Amino acid sequence: MDARVAEDSPRLAGWSPPPEKAPIRLTRIDDPQSPMPQIVRAAYERPVIRQMSAIGPFYVVGDPEGVKRVFLDNVANYPKTEMERRFFGVLFGNGLLSSDGDTWRAHRRTMAPAFAPPAVAAYAPGMADDARAFAERWAQLPPGEPVDVAHDMTRLTLQIISRAVFATDGAALGDMMEAGVNGAMAATQVGVLDFVPLIDKWRMARREARVAAVFADLDAMVARLIAEREAAPGGTDLLSRLIAARDGETGVAMTAQEVRDQVVTIFVAGHETTAAAMSWIWYALSQRPDVEAKLHAELGEVLGGRDPTHEDVPNLAYARMVIDETMRLYPPAPGTSTRQALAADEICGVKIPKGAPVCVVPWVTHRHRAHWDQPDRFMPERFSKEASAGRPRYAYIPFGAGPRVCIGASLALTEMVLVLATLAQRFRLRLPPGHEVAIQHRVTMRPLGGLPMFVERR
Ligand code: HEM
Repeated sequence: MDARVAEDSPRLAGWSPPPEKAPIRLTRIDDPQSPMPQIVRAAYERPVIRQMSAIGPFYVVGDPEGVKRVFLDNVANYPKTEMERRFFGVLFGNGLLSSDGDTWRAHRRTMAPAFAPPAVAAYAPGMADDARAFAERWAQLPPGEPVDVAHDMTRLTLQIISRAVFATDGAALGDMMEAGVNGAMAATQVGVLDFVPLIDKWRMARREARVAAVFADLDAMVARLIAEREAAPGGTDLLSRLIAARDGETGVAMTAQEVRDQVVTIFVAGHETTAAAMSWIWYALSQRPDVEAKLHAELGEVLGGRDPTHEDVPNLAYARMVIDETMRLYPPAPGTSTRQALAADEICGVKIPKGAPVCVVPWVTHRHRAHWDQPDRFMPERFSKEASAGRPRYAYIPFGAGPRVCIGASLALTEMVLVLATLAQRFRLRLPPGHEVAIQHRVTMRPLGGLPMFVERR
């Protein structure tokens, strides 16, 4: 393909990018507004395009075959960029998101059983209990006052992950984690100066000191919980499993510092994304009463008013389709980490030079004109078994793909089905009249300024 054509392409038809930094507002569920106005129209139409940024050219891979090349077939050629690993490293140390090479491989192997189906089944009753307790709180709300659903979903997913990891009530940890993450996010904003030699090192050292300070309380608490587990082994929570885990090949356990890094990674990666997905689900249902009615019918049929359990999850097929379709239109992580080509390569016929940054962007792949029928329409039925047959596996990548696919995907999906089924049985959520939802895209994508909604009893 001709890269220059792609660079100069007009934007998506009917899609005018807002002036810089202005919020992007959605007027309908199927509004094609992009949270990434820098990505040009051609990215949604061609397999791979080359674009320019302030720090040079980069490649956007939208085609499922191209995604497969980067994430699976030639994965050894595409490690995460050094820059991104350093930034994530400030937050997560040597946790799975920020490590690479042998360290990542050994830790991923060691941790896999703690995220496998039997472990997720053990966490599920806690998730169901937390969803029920949360529903009871919503039931006490005074009528006529909107709640911030994005905030509430964050608190609920924090509570659920706290219980899965520590088998403990998450309130205190949740407060510390929220303060830590917000402070750390503010401290890790990237600027042009981060690309200037010497100044970049000074900025990184300052950033590390600030993040260490905001995480100090949390680190002390995690250290105490690790020490408790070491003194009394045998627990089934995620932390106990990580402490007890041994690498299947070498028999080596993780050190306390490594366990700490994994725990902070799991906390951050595991609640913010799930909360974003749940927020978009409530938004989508409020916009599409027809979909909501089908969901309610399924809940009535499968559960008949009782609360869901782990055993119900496979039977709540339409709930799962609503979740899948919401994450297609609003992927919680709309762009995965940038990868860097170690050697020159070719993706879908486009030459990739050695050293070039390569981006796989779920937002783009999920709305690719060549692979989805009416890509901007919200249609959960497209995820039925029949409609999914024949769709390329790599056309749908909310959890990434290949060896670095999200380790928590099945935990997250189980959690979302249980939370959706518990709450949608009791409530329907509605936006205040005239309220327009805006998208905020940092690492995750969530409603800007929260998601005010009325919680109505069904
Ligand atoms: C809807 C919820 C979630 C979404 C959309 C999501 C999305 C993703 C994506 C796209 C990646 C790959 C990033 C890349 O290739 O650059 C990833 C990795 C990861 N996720 Fe998730 N995630 C979710 C929930 C969770 C949960 C619940 C946990 C843990 C309990 C978790 C832990 C992780 C970890 C540790 C990694 C790094 C894996 C590795 O590099 O080996 N995520 N996630």
